[in-house]
Amino acid sequence: DVEGSLRPKTLSEYIGQEKAKQNLSVYIEAARQRGEPLDHVLLYGPPGLGKTTLAGIIANEMNVNLRVTSGPAIEKPGDLAALLTNLSENDILFIDEIHRLSRAVEEVLYPAMEDNALDIIIGKGPSARSIRIDLPHFTLVGATTRAGQLTGPLRDRFGVILRLELYTPEQLAHIVRRSAGILGIDCDEEGAHELARRSRGTPRIANRLLKRVRDFAQVLGDGAIHRQIAAEALGRLEIDELGLDNIDRLILETMIKNYAGGPVGLDTLAAAIGEESVTIEDVYEPYLIQLGFLTRTPRGRCVTLPGYQHMNMRPNPQVRSAV
Ligand code: ADE
Repeated sequence: DVEGSLRPKTLSEYIGQEKAKQNLSVYIEAARQRGEPLDHVLLYGPPGLGKTTLAGIIANEMNVNLRVTSGPAIEKPGDLAALLTNLSENDILFIDEIHRLSRAVEEVLYPAMEDNALDIIIGKGPSARSIRIDLPHFTLVGATTRAGQLTGPLRDRFGVILRLELYTPEQLAHIVRRSAGILGIDCDEEGAHELARRSRGTPRIANRLLKRVRDFAQVLGDGAIHRQIAAEALGRLEIDELGLDNIDRLILETMIKNYAGGPVGLDTLAAAIGEESVTIEDVYEPYLIQLGFLTRTPRGRCVTLPGYQHMNMRPNPQVRSAV
């Protein structure tokens, strides 16, 4: 599949996340020299930054199989037990959205992570006893949007914790050029930068926009992506100069018009625009905060002066706010 073909397979192909990459390469090299599986790894950060890609790279670099699942997909303890007992020695088990595991399933994970063992309770009441089954050695790679969503006991069982950060426009332009090469799209440096600048620091968005801009280039232009056709296409997609989409602008506009720029509580804001609080928090807010358009205060979210300016609005001088 195309999405899969864009994913880098090795750490050296992987662009950006320099800190995470450098440390990870040391851990991988060390584990390989010792002939041991890598310690359990927790990846956290906003969606679309390459957590699944990194899990694939770890498996590839360690020369082991990758098994992919997610928190919501593992409904019962037995589901996890089935996954764990089917692993081969030193395999990687990738659990996306690991913060969404139920308590009962988490309990099965603890002895598996710590002792490579499965504790099974047989019988009920006073005659109940527990038997222990040995599991293959494995590396758990967990992914979550925020490490704070994890329970303490689970977080404590990861030996390696890596925080992924939003990408710079330069890194994204590099990724766009790489993806264009793989997909056979003609895309010049300026076209790549135009796309990169408007991709909210997120490779998944950059790669998605690359494909949409290619459609416009093919139908309205000569098929090649350069600055002008990229700008035209992104305008039609209602993605503004800084990459804000309709929802980003709705968030800022609602805060300004209905709440005098804030402070407004997350749940109040979510109800006002009809999105889930966690979606605002995980998907929209990180980029708005990075741009300096929004701040989080103990009393709620506030639009900053640059946020007002981007929306072509001015703070109301009658209202004392935290701007
Ligand atoms: N495609 C998506 N994310 C990437 C990354 N970080 N490096 C290279 N190619 C990518």
